[in-house]
Amino acid sequence: MVHYDPLDPDTLENPYSFYRQLRKNSPVFWHEQMKSWVLAGYHDCREVLRDHEVFARDRGRLGIEVPEFQQNIQSLDPRTRRPCEVFTNALRRQDLDSVASAARRQILALLESLADRPRFDFMLEIAAPVALTMTSQLLGVPEPDLAEYVDISDWLAQRMDAGLRPEAVESGDLARKKLIKLVDQWFDGAGVDGGLAGLQQDAKRDEIPEHYVRNTVGTVFNASFGTLYATAGNVLLTLFQHPEAFELLKDSSLLASGTDELIRFDGPAQATSRVAVSRTKIGGITIERGQTVVALLASANRDPEQFDRPDELVLDRKPNRHLGFGWGPHACLGSMFGQIAVRALVESLVELPAPLRMAGSPTRRRTATVRTIGVFPVSLDGRTGR
Ligand code: HEM
Repeated sequence: MVHYDPLDPDTLENPYSFYRQLRKNSPVFWHEQMKSWVLAGYHDCREVLRDHEVFARDRGRLGIEVPEFQQNIQSLDPRTRRPCEVFTNALRRQDLDSVASAARRQILALLESLADRPRFDFMLEIAAPVALTMTSQLLGVPEPDLAEYVDISDWLAQRMDAGLRPEAVESGDLARKKLIKLVDQWFDGAGVDGGLAGLQQDAKRDEIPEHYVRNTVGTVFNASFGTLYATAGNVLLTLFQHPEAFELLKDSSLLASGTDELIRFDGPAQATSRVAVSRTKIGGITIERGQTVVALLASANRDPEQFDRPDELVLDRKPNRHLGFGWGPHACLGSMFGQIAVRALVESLVELPAPLRMAGSPTRRRTATVRTIGVFPVSLDGRTGR
């Protein structure tokens, strides 16, 4: 029997050596605590995400009711492409390049204001405010209170590990309700404008239910904030561990492929799940109708059967068909913006006049589905601040 505890501190620190063993010895195995099949290989994971007929996100397809407050683009399966297009169009209405240049200016201004501090927490002082401002600008909504939103996002991230920590369900559902309250304020406040106004019109025309629209706005907001926040820390740590990449990424022709590779190498989304709506087989193992499968996206992204030199950071890797943004009908709705946003962050980091340095060991948050650092001490000029 495989012993896999994604929340074990050593696994959180470095899941990749464990994933290597899984791919070699147990690419498909039953996880008793999660009551799920776990898949570690690239081809199996991609197949589950692609094969929408057999693998559903939507438990309604098994006759299990999805409560109204949980119905959104992520929890229900698309019957047509239209809802996805309506939300994608809302994001495209924003000027993405100006959101990215505003983020670069914000990062530089924040760092300038921190220059006198011997050391500071990158996650609190840079990752969180930048992720919140970019996300709010992208949706064209007022910026929520930072401390309050960081808590909401953390509870929602813990909620994703409910199979491992059932106690996270209650606080996670409460956080979702708080998020929906925020969304209601945006919709019911002093007149909706920007992306939300166009979204409302399109949704009305296509008869997409109001609660689904509001819930999805919350989902998009949190998916954006949570992944950008986590990616900022993961990317910075990867760059510290590969100092040559700092230099190479000053070459703008490597920025697009380099950013994508940083997400393959240590992305924020470690896993996702689907439920089988009919009996099927994966890797010679029978999956019964109603059983859940967990696709370890981050393990798939290091599979040597798909990637040459999978444990190396190859900034000009091509092709790079990683699963860091998912695959198939539920693939990331904001992947284009995610890439633009992470590129803006990388550009700012590599161009800093005074380089950032590590000023202590980063501490990981105890979440398995979302891989993120919680506290990341850094200094601007190499002082450790002791
Ligand atoms: C580096 C940044 C990002 C990464 C690595 C990322 C990763 C992912 C992944 C892996 C999924 C698929 C989950 C699954 O198959 O179950 C996903 C879905 C999603 N993402 Fe992202 N994401 C990022 C940024 C964003 C941004 C900026 C937005 C919004 C503007 C966004 C909105 C969404 C939404 C709404 C979904 C659900 C789509 C659906 O289920 O149909 N993401 N993301």
